[in-house]
Amino acid sequence: MKAWRVRFLYFLVLNAAVQYVTSLEEERSDSIFGNFLDPLKDLFSQNDNSNQTLTKFSLRKPSVPDDDLCYIVPGKPESLAACSFNSTSKTFLVIHGWTLSGMFESWVEKLVTALYDREKAANVIVVDWLGSAQNHYVVAAQNTKEVGHEIARFIDWIEETTNMPLENIHLIGYSLGAHVAGFAGSHATNKVGRITGLDPAGPDFEGEHAHRRLSPDDAHFVDVLHTFTRGSLGLSIGIQQPVGHVDIYPNRGSFQPGCNLRGALEKIANLGLFAITDAVKCEHERSVHLFIDSLLNEQDAAKAYRCGSTDMFDRGMCLSCRKSRCIAVGYDISLVRRARSVQMYTKTRASMPFRVYHYQVKIHFSSKVNRSELEPSLTVSLFGTRGESENLELKLKEKLETNTTHSFLLVTEKDIGDLLMLKFKWEETNGWSASNVLNMVSSWWSGDSGSDNMDVHKIRIRAGETQQKLVFCVKDPGAPKLTQEVTFVKCKDAWRTNPKRAPKRITLEKH
Ligand SMILES: *[C@@H]1O[C@H](CO)[C@@H](O)[C@H](O)[C@H]1NC(C)=O
Ligand SMILES: *[C@@H]1O[C@H](CO)[C@@H](O)[C@H](O)[C@H]1NC(C)=O
Ligand SMILES: *[C@@H]1O[C@H](CO)[C@@H](O)[C@H](O)[C@H]1NC(C)=O
Ligand SMILES: *[C@@H]1O[C@H](CO)[C@@H](O)[C@H](O)[C@H]1NC(C)=O
Repeated sequence: MKAWRVRFLYFLVLNAAVQYVTSLEEERSDSIFGNFLDPLKDLFSQNDNSNQTLTKFSLRKPSVPDDDLCYIVPGKPESLAACSFNSTSKTFLVIHGWTLSGMFESWVEKLVTALYDREKAANVIVVDWLGSAQNHYVVAAQNTKEVGHEIARFIDWIEETTNMPLENIHLIGYSLGAHVAGFAGSHATNKVGRITGLDPAGPDFEGEHAHRRLSPDDAHFVDVLHTFTRGSLGLSIGIQQPVGHVDIYPNRGSFQPGCNLRGALEKIANLGLFAITDAVKCEHERSVHLFIDSLLNEQDAAKAYRCGSTDMFDRGMCLSCRKSRCIAVGYDISLVRRARSVQMYTKTRASMPFRVYHYQVKIHFSSKVNRSELEPSLTVSLFGTRGESENLELKLKEKLETNTTHSFLLVTEKDIGDLLMLKFKWEETNGWSASNVLNMVSSWWSGDSGSDNMDVHKIRIRAGETQQKLVFCVKDPGAPKLTQEVTFVKCKDAWRTNPKRAPKRITLEKH
């Protein structure tokens, strides 16, 4: 086929793609791009008739992290010396994603600065594929493969020219750039050390074969942060499935604190998925900022915990660090290569430093008669050697069940040190008027073990960050309390397991 014909067809396809993209919100299908373009894929690769390099490799300087002053040109070894490429140093390739503006986003400079901050002698190369990324999403996604090939040829050339061990090469790709990194890794002759995928793009990649997206085969170690794996209309901006050796889902991998969630969803509903708004970007780009945080705040590294499900994690049941079940989020992640991908979870704050302190709180509610009709609101205040964190809500996922241990996840934004004491508060949420609150208050702590009341004997706490396990008992079981708040202190007889020898209890009574 003559070149102009190919171009004309390409033009037609582009137009059709634009139509599809525009009507996507009605289609509710995430495979539409793939299906639509499948018969035309060969045409696309034949269209690659220009032999000029589309992708540029800018070695940024620590002193000028925001500007492209020196390009390394594959095939021109003198460009390495001209840019002061250090062939014994760690080498980062920062790969951007889809772009509307055709310009680098502000995170690029921040990531470059943070990488130099941590690795002073490193080569931080910003890969510029803006030309191919500034397209309708479907076309940009299609281009990731070719750009990946170009980066692979660059890596091969670097290896041949400088004898650099590829263990030193770390590709960091955001959104579509994560899949570019995957293609680069899989097409390089030898395996690179590490690929970090920062919220890899979902549309056109979710559910694809491993060789058509980022996958654990693409580098010796592939780690992934998922921050926006929930879109409306069944389409997710970030890929939901695990695609690395370790996949971390901060805040369930969906709604990130500090991002305007409601605004984001409204805008997607009104303007369509491809109207990427600041609010959407906030969640998607959070992956980058978590990584930057891990470079800058090495001492305050956030921890992520291995867990079978987000639900179990949200009940605080996965805070163990035994057998590398917990890991540092971001740059200092320990290399865990298992046959199967490992999924990990963490909570974060709304801003940097993002780390929080995780606690599992286990409470056994017991009663002679079935009191499972209760729907109390429960709060806990934690007091530690370095501070306190008050009125943290214990979210009941279901009705409180009699003679059952309930497990909760609590997080504090600040480090309160070692736990000394806690206050436990119980409020009935349904059917309580002011007068019977008074009634309840005066009779609340009857301490009568013969009654039909709901009892809490002990509260067990496991701290994720310190791995401390503590048992708390009612501080003053005998004293009549005129409050719904009860103080618990570390049990003196925590080692005693026989419940008959542990008469201390509080009583939660509903009249
Ligand atoms: C491709 O390379 C050939 C020679 O190597 C050259 O004649 C031709 O102009 C190049 N085409 C483009 C689009 O750069
Ligand atoms: C290259 O980097 C290494 C550390 O990786 C450092 O020891 C060496 O001095 C650097 N060389 C130059 C020329 O900067
Ligand atoms: C809860 O357990 C206690 C002691 O084992 C028992 O006496 C009581 O009947 C149980 N309550 C219910 C509702 O089964
Ligand atoms: C208490 O009653 C609920 C239903 O009201 C039931 O599901 C639960 O199993 C009962 N619990 C006990 C300990 O008997």
